[in-house]
Amino acid sequence: MHVSQAILSRRSHKLFRGTVVPDVDLKHLLELAIWAPNHKFTEPWRFTVLPKRSFDQLWLAVQDAADTDKARAKLMKLKEIIDGAGAAIAVRQVRSPDQPERDHEDYAACAIACQHIQLGAWERGWASFWTTSPGFVGGKLVDFWQTTPDERLVGVLFLGEAALDMPAVRRHCAESLATWL
Ligand SMILES: Cc1cc2nc3c(=O)[nH]c(=O)nc-3n(C[C@H](O)[C@H](O)[C@H](O)COP(=O)(O)O)c2cc1C
Repeated sequence: MHVSQAILSRRSHKLFRGTVVPDVDLKHLLELAIWAPNHKFTEPWRFTVLPKRSFDQLWLAVQDAADTDKARAKLMKLKEIIDGAGAAIAVRQVRSPDQPERDHEDYAACAIACQHIQLGAWERGWASFWTTSPGFVGGKLVDFWQTTPDERLVGVLFLGEAALDMPAVRRHCAESLATWL
């Protein structure tokens, strides 16, 4: 698959078929992630890999973290995602609070690492979605994903075999958003 094809055809998927994403694919995705551009080679990313066999731990943590009625009402939706997904990778950024410019650049670099994972997964036939939803990453779940006090959780990428085709939501025309000098 060419890069442009992967970019244009990748869509976010939240409903998966329960197929396990093998460790060999997860390792490949980490290899792609670390080749994201990063200013001054800070390599600010850290990863927490959750293979399917460890998903019970996630479900327990998600239930434990749902400490309001509103959060509990959403649990069955989260369970559907957990049951279907075949793996997850959390991307964490090492923060530099005393160097705001570096911190800003490092967040950008981690976001690119996330996209490398999504595109690499898609190339291997795995759909994905990136979540920052409180139900998956909020409150105590920051610890579940092994985020240390000097880090920020950039996102969790759920991966799996797509259950449905996902149509693209229309984008504004690129030309209308561009200023040419
Ligand atoms: C920083 C970030 C956070 C996101 N968080 C969520 C999320 O919590 N839940 C969700 O369903 N999608 C989330 N997404 C995915 C977007 O909703 C998705 O990329 C967008 O709808 C465009 O769809 P596409 O990925 O199919 O092009 C997130 C994306 C980014 C970049």
